[in-house]
Amino acid sequence: MSRLFRIAIDGPGASGKSTTAKLLATKLGFGYIDSGAMFRAITLKCQQQNIDLKDQEKVKQIAQSAKINFPSLSQVELDGKDVSELIRNSSITRNISHIASNTSVREILANQQRAMAKGDIPGANSTGFEHHGKVVKGVVMDGRDIGTVILPDAELKVFIEADVKIRAKRRFDELKNKGSLGDDTLQDVEQDLEARDLADRTRKIAPLLKAKDAIVLDTSALTIEQQVEKIQDMVYERL
Ligand code: CDP
Ligand code: CDP
Repeated sequence: MSRLFRIAIDGPGASGKSTTAKLLATKLGFGYIDSGAMFRAITLKCQQQNIDLKDQEKVKQIAQSAKINFPSLSQVELDGKDVSELIRNSSITRNISHIASNTSVREILANQQRAMAKGDIPGANSTGFEHHGKVVKGVVMDGRDIGTVILPDAELKVFIEADVKIRAKRRFDELKNKGSLGDDTLQDVEQDLEARDLADRTRKIAPLLKAKDAIVLDTSALTIEQQVEKIQDMVYERL
């Protein structure tokens, strides 16, 4: 018999959620679901089809028709095409709030995210690890509403935080290293992050919120390895 261990990671932009989640998933043999990538993919598909992002009905139809897959830890496919890089464009990031506040989109993606976590539809295959003679399989999902709305009964919930200046510097360095910074200054990146955090925290539906039973992890002064180790310890404590 194997059991399913679900880890919900939420927090503001560039706090280190996806980096931590991917490494954690690799170490534990768990699946990984990047819920933010799904909202990004819907935004991309709307932009590609010149859909007005405020047109609730048209956006809903796009979300219904979009086929999103995660072939590997770092890859995102939209309708059979690799969009892993495209979805990180600044035009997606700046416009995503319209999609994230669309009730129908959230409902469609929530159903897919829950089904992926259960293994009903492919997305997050897990080989798991052995613990006291039993195989523990699981999934790590990161986003904004995972611990509150998507997996409210997750076995472990972590809310990752970091000082906004540190988050902005991390995102700035990341974009610079990838060559996708464009003309943006560190100040632009910080302003964008703050605007998106505010939209995420204040939207009516599924806002960015720490679940009551989530453990807060401030990563401002932590290395990536330390972040991963701390959450890994939390998993072992819960087992
Ligand atoms: O990587 P970063 O934290 O900057 O963003 P992301 O995780 O890719 O998410 C992009 C945007 O999608 C967020 O700012 C939210 O507006 C939205 N999102 C959401 O509403 N709910 C989620 N579970 C995940 C993302
Ligand atoms: O998923 P989220 O938007 O919360 O953040 P991320 O994409 O995982 O991390 C943003 C950037 O911060 C990445 O380039 C990470 O390598 C970097 N970083 C980190 O996550 N943790 C640290 N302690 C230091 C840097």
